[in-house]
Amino acid sequence: MNIRIAKHHDIDAIYAVEQACFDDRAYSRFDMRQLITAPRLMSLVCEVDSCIIAYITVAYDKSASIANVISLAVMQEHREKGVGTQLLRNMERIMQKLTIGSIQLQVWSADKLVLQFYERRGYKRGSTIRNYYPKTYKQTRDAVMMGKELN
Ligand SMILES: CC(C)(COP(=O)(O)OP(=O)(O)OC[C@H]1O[C@@H](n2cnc3c(N)ncnc32)[C@H](O)[C@@H]1OP(=O)(O)O)[C@@H](O)C(=O)NCCC(=O)NCCS
Repeated sequence: MNIRIAKHHDIDAIYAVEQACFDDRAYSRFDMRQLITAPRLMSLVCEVDSCIIAYITVAYDKSASIANVISLAVMQEHREKGVGTQLLRNMERIMQKLTIGSIQLQVWSADKLVLQFYERRGYKRGSTIRNYYPKTYKQTRDAVMMGKELN
């Protein structure tokens, strides 16, 4: 397993992971390109046998000392082997080096497993944002804010 910073030529492989993991909630290919290439956004990918099987994208603001996890996704067949945790930890270490003091993220409120995943990794639940997600999700469009102090 190899974790590295995403490069421009990884977009198609990352988009494939995004589609496989989020289905109708997935970002568009256009959005994905923006996420990989825009300034103050950083993505890490995880490769197994030279294939990208997971990624994380974070937006950060050094002046405000805060970062926001935009997306974290691991292909189904590679889940529950620590890949998601490794990506999150690597991203947190990079943010610390950039003097970012805290990380926040939003989780679909219906996704109890993901809420638990972040809680067990030190993220605290905050407020619920009504109708945060733009598309019509099956159960709810609400998001739970979560955050963690880095020190
Ligand atoms: C959430 C996710 C990134 C975890 O990745 P992972 O590589 O399986 O994570 P790890 O192996 O490091 O840890 C496994 C943990 O994830 C939890 N988990 C969360 N969602 C899960 C899911 N859909 N399937 C299986 N396990 C899931 C497990 O219960 C386990 O919890 P624990 O270790 O605290 O007991 C992965 O399940 C995923 O990509 N889900 C779909 C996309 C998504 O919802 N991303 C998060 C929103 S941005």
